Amino acid sequence: MRMRHKKHGAERIAACSSLLIEDPEAALKEPQAIFSHVRPICLEIGCGKGDFAVGMAIRYPEYHWIAVERVPDVACVALEKAMAQKECYPDNLRFLIANAQNLSDWILPHSIDCIYLNFSDPWPKSGYKKRRLTHENFLRLYQRWLRPDGMLKCKTDNVDLFDFSLEELEKCGWKIEWQTRDLHASEKAADNVMTEYERNFSTRGQAICSVWARVPNEGETYEF
Ligand SMILES: C[S@@+](CC[C@H](N)C(=O)[O-])C[C@H]1O[C@@H](n2cnc3c(N)ncnc32)[C@H](O)[C@@H]1O
Repeated sequence: MRMRHKKHGAERIAACSSLLIEDPEAALKEPQAIFSHVRPICLEIGCGKGDFAVGMAIRYPEYHWIAVERVPDVACVALEKAMAQKECYPDNLRFLIANAQNLSDWILPHSIDCIYLNFSDPWPKSGYKKRRLTHENFLRLYQRWLRPDGMLKCKTDNVDLFDFSLEELEKCGWKIEWQTRDLHASEKAADNVMTEYERNFSTRGQAICSVWARVPNEGETYEF
């Protein structure tokens, strides 16, 4: 996501510090400790401007939501949006400014219930496929982070990325529980919380692909 450099970005992020995970090592080694209640934890990777994370925190107060974004100026927009709606959700939402690649240093194994990837960068050139968030290297990380029976839920407008994701998931032993190439015409449309990208693409009439996949059991794929 390209964005003009934000003036006073650091100060604006600091003003939202109550929603920011500032010490990921401590927080993610004991994720329940950053919230005031114990609840299942969902992780969104590449949250962009935060519409989905805020929408899910409001709609599903029985879960904790951790939204990860690697670009500080983009995360700043998400944080300010979440601050502005703080009265609408319980204490169940935090943001982390980080590259998902580095989360393994911090996330307690098998501590996450569900991982969401929404409109991830497609990295169309095959030389860059390891950067795709559904590349097998990332799926191995997710397998380590997710609880047994945990789920990965992806949405994208990009058919090539969707096909690649299905192949990687199947190759790595994930169980495809549900998939569609037209989410908004599917039985899950009513419960769908839209992202910024999703709203833009669907306004242009583009169909949205989605897959839900169950993590393989320990021993069903590789040893880490
Ligand atoms: C195409 S945008 C989609 C944003 C949002 N999910 C949506 O659907 O509107 C992808 C976002 O993922 C972020 N991102 C990409 N790779 C990432 C990574 N490895 N770790 C954290 N964020 C990442 C980008 O900075 C960008 O904001």
